[in-house]
Amino acid sequence: MDGQGQDHGGADAADALALRLAGARDAGMARAVLASVRHLHALVREVRPDPDDLRRALEFLTEVGQASDARRQEWVLLADVLGVSALVEDLAHPVPAGATPQTVAGPFYRADVPETAQGADLCLDGRGEPLVAVLHIRAPDGRAVPGAWVEVWQANGEGLYENQEPDRQPEFNLRGRIRADADGAVRFRSVRPKGYRLPDDGPVGQLFARLGLPIERPAHLHVRVTAPGFRPLVTHVFDRDDPAIGRDAIFGVKPGLLAEFRAVPGGVGPRWSVEVTLVLVPDCGTTDQPARGKARAEARQGGN
Ligand SMILES: [Fe+2]
Repeated sequence: MDGQGQDHGGADAADALALRLAGARDAGMARAVLASVRHLHALVREVRPDPDDLRRALEFLTEVGQASDARRQEWVLLADVLGVSALVEDLAHPVPAGATPQTVAGPFYRADVPETAQGADLCLDGRGEPLVAVLHIRAPDGRAVPGAWVEVWQANGEGLYENQEPDRQPEFNLRGRIRADADGAVRFRSVRPKGYRLPDDGPVGQLFARLGLPIERPAHLHVRVTAPGFRPLVTHVFDRDDPAIGRDAIFGVKPGLLAEFRAVPGGVGPRWSVEVTLVLVPDCGTTDQPARGKARAEARQGGN
């Protein structure tokens, strides 16, 4: 009931809100709020929660907020496992046929990785099964993109990133920032990444545990490519043979991102190899610098 004794439940409340928002200062925000309200009301009509259900839903959202801080973002995790992050990415960055699909960068990206030499070993602690990777950076017409900056980051052989266990892994372990050679190629050594579970000790993990769904990710490399005249590409290279390849918790797996991690015969040297081609989308006005170049420069001044 409102102040005039009118019942504004359901569609009436949404229509009333639309009238009140007609002159809103921020029209874009008003549209988003009104659309949210209409969809929430449709959700309520479909699910028919009782007041206790609503209270539990609000308690869940409260717990999500309480589980989030500077080091952990439970809200981002929730958006990821509900497929919202992937949908936003797909709609914001539609990719033409033949170009490599975009994915979310995820929470483990670091913009301050020092430049890494071609052929360098990104594994700084000697742990894991050795891997040799070759990435070919191409334009849609097949031409090489020499000089492209390629940032790579990955989990180790136990499914953990360097910034998840800073006391156990060396800083910048399994991270690189390599400039493509004259043939548009980037080569590096590393270790075969392992898939991992997303943090499941918070309210999002508990929700999915009740649903019987582990929040797991198949093994992958993360790659970010920047080059003048092309849209920045943020993507994954997935191990197509990973058992979890069909149930990525954040819906990042796409046919164009599957790669074969090949066993290398013989007992000496790398045991695995992977070679992929990444196709950029032309775009005027981009730079050749990795994200937050200023932060990177400052970090390097700090002794990297
Ligand atoms: Fe990852």
